[in-house]
Amino acid sequence: MTSLDRLFGTPLSAHATRILLLGSGEVGKEIIIEAQRYGIECIAVDRYANAPAMQVAHRSHVIPMLDGEQIRRVVELEKPDLIVPEIEAIHTPTLQKLEAEGYTVIPTARAAWLTMDREGIRRLAAEELNLPTSRYRFAESHAEYLKAIEEVGMPCVVKPVMSSSGKGQSTVANADDIQAAWDYAQSGGRTGAGRVIVEAFVEFDYEITLLTVRHANAARDGITTSFCAPIGHLQAEGDYRESWQPHPMNAAALDDAQRQAQKLTDALGGRGIFGVEFFIKGDQAIFSEVSPRPHDTGLVTLISQDQSEFALHVRAILGLPIPAIRQNGAAASCAFLVEGDQVAPRFAGVAQALAEPDTQLRLFGKPEVSGRRRMGVTLALGNSLDAARAKARTAMAQLKVVA
Ligand SMILES: Nc1ncnc2c1ncn2[C@@H]1O[C@H](COP(=O)(O)OP(=O)(O)OP(=O)(O)O)[C@@H](O)[C@H]1O
Ligand SMILES: [Mg+2]
Repeated sequence: MTSLDRLFGTPLSAHATRILLLGSGEVGKEIIIEAQRYGIECIAVDRYANAPAMQVAHRSHVIPMLDGEQIRRVVELEKPDLIVPEIEAIHTPTLQKLEAEGYTVIPTARAAWLTMDREGIRRLAAEELNLPTSRYRFAESHAEYLKAIEEVGMPCVVKPVMSSSGKGQSTVANADDIQAAWDYAQSGGRTGAGRVIVEAFVEFDYEITLLTVRHANAARDGITTSFCAPIGHLQAEGDYRESWQPHPMNAAALDDAQRQAQKLTDALGGRGIFGVEFFIKGDQAIFSEVSPRPHDTGLVTLISQDQSEFALHVRAILGLPIPAIRQNGAAASCAFLVEGDQVAPRFAGVAQALAEPDTQLRLFGKPEVSGRRRMGVTLALGNSLDAARAKARTAMAQLKVVA
């Protein structure tokens, strides 16, 4: 079916248009809220009950997401029109088989597979597409790791190939850090001990996420690529703390980033939004990684654009056109992180967080915290990026967990 002649069904009927979301965090919650607006029947899946997206879906299933048989069982039960991965840690070989059997995986099963593992996407970007990246080596054993450090040089960044949100990731500044970085990577990977990437440390001026949308156009089966304004962000201990839009960029660097994002997303194919991460140094964009789905730093678009990254993703995956994306001027988001052990936390300071004009809050409704967890985000518009960032930070500082 070409995208533009899709019939939209009635949810909970034989003619429903169904989306099955694999991963049900805060990103998935916003995706489902947007899909609900078109009367889509939404099924949320994750490895734990009452995940944020499950709370706004028609139905949900709790399964281990790295178990291919369980994914197949749920897909065959629900028969979705679209399978929408929301996280990286999914049994992607099963997605590839399901796609071959006729299911649609967003953006493609190959994109989900390549980006599940840092090696797949790095080799595609650097070795096939010749995008500039940090110098890198992969290592499987301790001996290979030592050789990789020698070849890449210090300072360098060590990451498990299967990890996200900075888990297991650390910087090796000098020889004293080498053993600890290995041990940490071996404990922090998604599937336990294993392969790591050693990347040269990039002394960037700043880093951005370039939200890139592949969506339908009026030409039969035509795909158009649209870009959102660049999003700047601040990372600490592997977690994004603040993001803002539009990050000021000189024309040459922006052009370079857009050209690379186009090349990369063309290679991954399909429809949907991608968060393409770049380090920027002078006029040059250095590719870092890509999410074939909305990006956490893109939460800022809930306030900074007429259509958030979630609204754009849903339009794109449903085959709807995106004639324009309007940016609302200086805007920022600030992550609300909670530390400790909490079941069913309660929050104080919500009214105070919303005291200023042009300020918004999302509380994700995650059922518990153990360690450190992003539980919400504040959003603000301002007269300048500094003002917007300060407002989002101040709003976040009002929030407290009540024991
Ligand atoms: N080679 C590098 N040189 C300099 N800084 C780096 C390098 N690699 C990563 N970083 C820093 O660490 C952050 C997280 O790295 P990366 O995006 O690879 O990890 P991640 O675990 O996939 O994080 P997330 O899932 O939150 O995107 C980057 O945004 C950047 O600030
Ligand atoms: Mg990243």
